[in-house]
Amino acid sequence: MEKIYDIIIWGASGFTGRLAVDYIYKNQNNSNLTWAVAGRNESKIKDILDGKNVPILIADSHDKESLVDLVKKTKVILTTVGPYARYGSELVEACAENGTHYCDLTGEVHWMRHMITKYQNTAKESGAKIVHTCGFDSIPSDIGVYFLQKNMRELHGVNAKQIKYRTRGFSGGASGGTVDSLMSMMEQAKKDSSILKIIANPYALNDKEKGLDGPDKMSPYFDKDFDAWVGPFIMAGINTRVVRRTNELLNNIYGDNFEYNEGSITGKGPKGLIGATTSGMVTGGMAGMAAFSPTRSILKSFLPKPGEGPSEETMENGFFEIELLGIHPTDRDKDIRVWIHGDKDPGYKSTAKMISESAMALAQDDLNVGGGFWTPASAMGDTLINRLPNAGVTFKIMDS
Ligand SMILES: NC(=O)c1ccc[n+]([C@@H]2O[C@H](COP(=O)([O-])OP(=O)(O)OC[C@H]3O[C@@H](n4cnc5c(N)ncnc54)[C@H](OP(=O)(O)O)[C@@H]3O)[C@@H](O)[C@H]2O)c1
Repeated sequence: MEKIYDIIIWGASGFTGRLAVDYIYKNQNNSNLTWAVAGRNESKIKDILDGKNVPILIADSHDKESLVDLVKKTKVILTTVGPYARYGSELVEACAENGTHYCDLTGEVHWMRHMITKYQNTAKESGAKIVHTCGFDSIPSDIGVYFLQKNMRELHGVNAKQIKYRTRGFSGGASGGTVDSLMSMMEQAKKDSSILKIIANPYALNDKEKGLDGPDKMSPYFDKDFDAWVGPFIMAGINTRVVRRTNELLNNIYGDNFEYNEGSITGKGPKGLIGATTSGMVTGGMAGMAAFSPTRSILKSFLPKPGEGPSEETMENGFFEIELLGIHPTDRDKDIRVWIHGDKDPGYKSTAKMISESAMALAQDDLNVGGGFWTPASAMGDTLINRLPNAGVTFKIMDS
């Protein structure tokens, strides 16, 4: 069957899906992009399109035949239908079997591990490039590290031996889809302890190589390199695994003994310590509450429901700022710092723009990789550094 479209947005009626539809609609003008939207409920999608002239296709996540029909029509599927462990496996299978490139927003590490193990060979054979984590997790981390190491090699001829990712600030909100994904992951982990083991493994997404990094730090600590207290960062358990997989996929381009960690800066002095302690308690407390069914129900009752999310104003006024420190292996005067800035809320508007640019890169750019399960940086590192400023996400070397 002929590939009629460059991109199909799957999940167009959801909170993040409709933001991706808006972004591609506004940014496709000069690119000759052919695209369509898809979902399971035509009238809901028509409402979202609000008169925009975009073809609509109908399929259901659990109807494999309808998914195969869908993926055969397009070069790339951009999917926002999550929780992915619940709704995503048949779509990955259909893409891997039919040579259709794929990008998503999953943060479900155990599910990615399962998909890689199950469909890696099929995707390699068909030529399908499958790229998970194309949103706030984990593009700023993955492309930020790729960018820093590229600059370190160009400036000093070596890799940083260690990179520290620190959130400086962000503002936004959570959607029902994200809440549902977190709850469903904890629910599954409670039933199946092998999932907890995967989530806890710092190298869960690596196929062979292990390295020097240990478990993510959950307690507060003072980081002299930032002259500030640092608490856990809620996305670290996803992002660090993705960055480590990138290193493996690119044949240890960051070095055999590369170390990477993430944390949230909470400030100096007693206030910083209290902030770091609280952030640890909130991160651990949320995960703990989500793991048990009575407390999970309480959490669900006051968090947004699927389809709901932050207001337009919250997203427009949102932002994120992240600092990366790359430590030179022998001379600390040659350390490099990278500043990452996003001009909208991290979880939704910025995320929708990042996944849209990823889908356009998969559809239109010359990528130097064949079929298989890639990370954003290993599949699209250089092209995303160029594209992401369109999405309001910038990477800059900081003055020393
Ligand atoms: N990584 C990141 O940075 C990041 C950021 C944001 C979101 N996310 C993830 O993205 C996912 C979506 O979040 P969201 O807030 O946009 O969720 P949402 O608003 O609940 O949207 C979910 C979408 O899935 C569709 N869907 C559900 N069941 C389906 C089925 N059986 N067949 C076809 N479509 C089906 C829904 O269609 P209907 O409208 O017909 O129900 C809807 O379009 C979540 O997994 C979330 O965790 C990740």
